[in-house]
Amino acid sequence: MNLQLVQNLLSSLSVPSRLDEIHLDEIQRSIFIKRDDLIHPVISGNKWRKLEGHIKQFNSKSAKGIVSMGGVYSNHLHALAYVCSVLKIPCDLLIYGWHDNQWTPTLKDALNWSANLYPISRSDAQNLRDQNFDCIQDKLKTAYWIPEGGGGEAGMIGMKHLVDELPQNFDREDHLIVCPCGTGTTLHGLIKHSRHIQIVSLRNVKQTIYPMLNKDRFSWLPATESKSFGKITASTKQFVLEFKSNYGIELDLIYTAPLMQAFLNSNLATDYRQIYFIHTGGLQGNRIHL
Ligand SMILES: Cc1ncc(COP(=O)(O)O)c(C=O)c1O
Repeated sequence: MNLQLVQNLLSSLSVPSRLDEIHLDEIQRSIFIKRDDLIHPVISGNKWRKLEGHIKQFNSKSAKGIVSMGGVYSNHLHALAYVCSVLKIPCDLLIYGWHDNQWTPTLKDALNWSANLYPISRSDAQNLRDQNFDCIQDKLKTAYWIPEGGGGEAGMIGMKHLVDELPQNFDREDHLIVCPCGTGTTLHGLIKHSRHIQIVSLRNVKQTIYPMLNKDRFSWLPATESKSFGKITASTKQFVLEFKSNYGIELDLIYTAPLMQAFLNSNLATDYRQIYFIHTGGLQGNRIHL
């Protein structure tokens, strides 16, 4: 990998990211928001935190390119295609749920950034999640594999940096982290790199089991609305617009907005001295809805 290109990429990132304190009228108290959404216009939020470790691992192997998989709106694939174009790494993306030549803005961007896109069936996607790579073309088998959503052990490496950026006294039993969950990689990393702080999230992918998250310090918030993954409700859209106009911060419709709604509806605000909400980015996904 060309080190100058890596340097250029690193210098385009706003890390450490900002920590904003906002007063939430709904619960009559202030919380901190870790503004990882501002790390970069494309590689925002936990996308950079998760890709960081994968790019390092890729560099240490002799792989010629990177392969990953995701859906047609995937924030992870969007950020990965961009990073690969900047670093001039060949990038192959396996896309499930891609029907009728549906060019979502996410896929159009990935194509413009020179990624190769391949449709795959939902059953192949499940095989890949189960680490069965038979469905991958031989030419892609030698590439570095990044699991869906940028997960895996390498995906957790960047969470150490996220934790290191929090204030020195953040890791206390009477403090709380509120962080979204997809694959659980971000949460796993936060749990791994802290010792005392309590952590809550919102279950997003119904069928996924998160065994490592069954820790004393971790719990799920009850959802405000019952809906399937990725479904965007009118109430969440309304909430995103109001939150932005009240506090000047845009939340994404899939992860951070439903989590903030669930948090505001919980009683947690009264139980903790300090609360850190992790803004994991994902705003490219808002484009077609807002
Ligand atoms: C914006 C956003 N927030 C949160 C998550 C969930 O993160 P994780 O997969 O690490 O649980 C994702 C998915 O990667 C995401 O795109």
